[in-house]
Amino acid sequence: MARITRTRLARQLRGNLELLQLGGVNELPVRQARKPAARPARGQPAPAPAALHPAPQARTAPAKVGAPVVVPSAALQELKAFDSPQARALEPVAEQVRVCGACKLCSSRTQTVFGTGDPRSPLMIVGEAPGGDEDARGVPFVGRAGKLLTDIIEKGMKYRREHVYICNVLKCRPPGNRNPEPDEIEACRGFLARQIEIINPKVILAVGLFPAQWLTGRKEPIGRLRGQVFDMHGRKVIATYHPAYVLRNYTVEVRKKVHEDVLLAVGILGPGPLVA
Ligand code: URA
Repeated sequence: MARITRTRLARQLRGNLELLQLGGVNELPVRQARKPAARPARGQPAPAPAALHPAPQARTAPAKVGAPVVVPSAALQELKAFDSPQARALEPVAEQVRVCGACKLCSSRTQTVFGTGDPRSPLMIVGEAPGGDEDARGVPFVGRAGKLLTDIIEKGMKYRREHVYICNVLKCRPPGNRNPEPDEIEACRGFLARQIEIINPKVILAVGLFPAQWLTGRKEPIGRLRGQVFDMHGRKVIATYHPAYVLRNYTVEVRKKVHEDVLLAVGILGPGPLVA
């Protein structure tokens, strides 16, 4: 039987209680624990074995192995703070993601990672999937690759990171940071599609192979997809190498290519600030 830690159980319980609350349930009946049977007085017969008096079965189903991990989402709090029509439209989508159990990743995640940044932004950056740091914090690109992405946005493009909307193809971390699998990408497809529809960015920068293929619909390697501007229903899509790849291949040549790619985006968007 799969074991679950107390912390994870507490998180799941809190998430489930919040869901019930969202559904209008404000009270739950609490069943008192049975008192342990009194020890028989000396010389008295022992009570009949428990098997002859089976305890009534709990009416709730036993916890399913693989049930989704549900915790309050960092994204929802951020969206509430942004308080724009786009932010309000994203809130129910963030809630759907928070409780999503559409693929196997739901049972190994710590929490979902919906997206971050200003939903009014004309620039959206799409990565592959949350890594360990993102899974722990519920926010995309907050680890080492995220630090490099912030430098690319702030030093390379001269925009402020909080003015860019950042999210991923997958909203849950694949175990061990393995590549997203086709069924996981399909299960998550509708969420990214809604984010794009609601935010309606002018430019989408795809960082890495999976978002590049997702957004362009092409099955070519990233080396061939980068360096050009694609049209996606009137939106411009530009692909570049993933920051984690850049960290692993920190050469002048790779960094120069990323710089060229992001300048394509700046050429379309113009100088900052991105959001008034
Ligand atoms: N890599 C990604 O593609 N996304 C993240 O959020 C973090 C690392």
